[in-house]
Amino acid sequence: MQRRNRTLRQSSAIRELVAETILQPHDFIVPLFVTDGTDVREEISSMPGYYRLSLDTLHAEIKALWHLGIRAVLLFVKVPDHLKDDRCSEALNKDGLMIRAIKTVKDSSPEMCVMTDVALDPFSPHGHDGLVRGQEIINDETVAVLSEMSVLHATYGADIVAPSDMMDGRVGAIRTALEQSHLTKTGILSYSAKYASCFYGPFRDALDSAPGFGDKKSYQMDPRNRREALKEVNDDIAEGADIVMVKPAGAYLDIIRDVKNEVNVPVAAYQVSGEYAMIKAAAANGWLNEEAAVRESLIAIKRAGADLIATYFAKQYLQSL
Ligand code: PBG
Repeated sequence: MQRRNRTLRQSSAIRELVAETILQPHDFIVPLFVTDGTDVREEISSMPGYYRLSLDTLHAEIKALWHLGIRAVLLFVKVPDHLKDDRCSEALNKDGLMIRAIKTVKDSSPEMCVMTDVALDPFSPHGHDGLVRGQEIINDETVAVLSEMSVLHATYGADIVAPSDMMDGRVGAIRTALEQSHLTKTGILSYSAKYASCFYGPFRDALDSAPGFGDKKSYQMDPRNRREALKEVNDDIAEGADIVMVKPAGAYLDIIRDVKNEVNVPVAAYQVSGEYAMIKAAAANGWLNEEAAVRESLIAIKRAGADLIATYFAKQYLQSL
């Protein structure tokens, strides 16, 4: 034999030397669910070990995350039913929970990068990401609200706004609105290739935001499509996206790699709630080694080409090291 491939696998020291993929604390974006109240740490039934946090608990959590090396969080709010309306007016409330959450993070760890979810589903009685007319999710009126929402988040300290709605033209409209408001330092992380996926189920439990009618297939992408992801990312970059995201991650590793090869901006991937729930459920049954499954799933996403990974496992993974 001229070469033995096992040579480079024979000891941990050699395997470490030649490892091609490395996960670092600052690769992670930690999604956080914020709810009203005090001293709340409410476990999400379909996401064991993951919680909705009130602002005081959020404050402490941010410090813990910072200490573990986390440098970015992505905020989502759970809105009580009585504040949901057809105009999604709570999304534009300057005293709303999102604004208070942004301030809380900045108060806790001023240098933590704050990303905010920009979409209407938590604020809508219909659970859709846009405004609804009849059975239709209307695009352009929604984009106007999302732009206003982004300016509001940025005004109160969001470093990066993250539109997750999949309306057409929203990145460009948000960029223009930010510029007009002289918010020239605010970044846009666009959920560019976001698929209409069953793996979002537990997230909708977390925010009580399941669509009241129909599904999200008229705006989120068809899982059968691959080329279309490149169209989406290229459009978003042309419109001013700083970072593009593929979502979900685990079942879309081919898309992550395609996007990585296509663009010259950082690529993020979102390991979504259903991916989290699957590993948790299998581990709870003793069918998988949880720590190993978490590590392998995250490595796979990074190896596929993700520069950044939004994942519910970030804290647990870093604590396990
Ligand atoms: C909605 C939104 C969803 C997620 C992030 N933003 C769900 C959806 O599109 O219905 C899913 C995240 C997850 O499942 O972890 N704007």
